[in-house]
Amino acid sequence: MADTGTDPLPVPAIDVKDLLHAADRGDPVLLLDVRNDDEVKAWKIEARQAIDTVYVPYFDFIEDEVGSIAKVPTGRDVVVLCAQGGSSEMVAGMLIEAGVPARNVKGGMVAYGEYLQPLPIPLKDLEASRFTIWQVNRRGKGCLSYVVCSGGEAVVVDPMKNIEWFGAFARQQDARIVRVLDTHIHADHVSGGPALAASLGVPYSVAAGEGFELRQPVAPLADGERLQIGGAEGVTMEVRIIRTPGHTPGSTSYLVGGSYLLSGDTVFVSSVGRPDLGGHVAEWGRMLFATLTGRLAPLPDDVVVLPAHYAGLHDINADGTVSGRLGHLRRTVPELQFRSADEFVAAVSAAVKEPPAAYAEIIKVNLGISSASPDKITEWELGKNECAASARKAAGLH
Ligand SMILES: [Fe+2]
Repeated sequence: MADTGTDPLPVPAIDVKDLLHAADRGDPVLLLDVRNDDEVKAWKIEARQAIDTVYVPYFDFIEDEVGSIAKVPTGRDVVVLCAQGGSSEMVAGMLIEAGVPARNVKGGMVAYGEYLQPLPIPLKDLEASRFTIWQVNRRGKGCLSYVVCSGGEAVVVDPMKNIEWFGAFARQQDARIVRVLDTHIHADHVSGGPALAASLGVPYSVAAGEGFELRQPVAPLADGERLQIGGAEGVTMEVRIIRTPGHTPGSTSYLVGGSYLLSGDTVFVSSVGRPDLGGHVAEWGRMLFATLTGRLAPLPDDVVVLPAHYAGLHDINADGTVSGRLGHLRRTVPELQFRSADEFVAAVSAAVKEPPAAYAEIIKVNLGISSASPDKITEWELGKNECAASARKAAGLH
């Protein structure tokens, strides 16, 4: 018997990468976000240009399809977004059936949270002939990893859990990953460092610091130690280890090529790392103050700071990268203006709020004390990072 019903029209999809590229360029995208209000409040897609967004929850479409479709402006290219791409696909299907062109954002906010965008850090000519620094921006979370290549070798710093991505990216750069480094025991995301290093049989280094039991196998690095990377055709580059305790007692920065400070969560481009995540805000805050005013003091103003996180669009440069000259940050970051440890500790203590509950679980995984299923990790990692201690309000600054 012939099927007399009509098959639903296929729902075209757009992936997060293409959506972000279009939105960054300022293409006239209309985003229809069908998540519930709580989810929308907690986390939104951000691009370099504002995204025109309409909010109509999925359940409204279920209860009143015609009325909900009528709320969507016509004559625009509509892309529909939900948490994981399922409800949005259904809504996009309803729109298409009603004659409204629509696409589904594949994987929804979960895919947004995982997407990695590599961008090259601009270097001076002489440096560019010896090495490259790729900043890998996990846009949804505001996390930054780095792949530093020189003479056929690569060092990966603060990799995310998608280790296949980092392996493939290094291969595209014709570089062999020879070391994996973490700047500290992260609290907002599960590090890919131990797994990436183990999969390649190369050393992994991170310092947890006093008071932490680290159960990952690590190759210890001493303050002031220098790693040589490269060697092909005589090209080498140096990574200097600088202990920068405060955000965590083991926090370490890596000075690449003498001029690029991979600062972890020690100093950001508009704030500094929060020193309260271990429950010792006064003690760690004093350590952080000593690092910012003492340990980093000898570095010249033209050193480029490349942090592990950023807070929002205001931290992104015109070329899409997140970086700042140390001299500029010394003048403009409010937390770098304090002249006494007491004032600094008081300000950052007042500024930080309770961290997300999942941070304690993530720290345990990154220490190697516990493990978790991929689904659990995805759940813990939802939302933007909350790693900064912005003392703007506490200091009366804006
Ligand atoms: Fe951190």
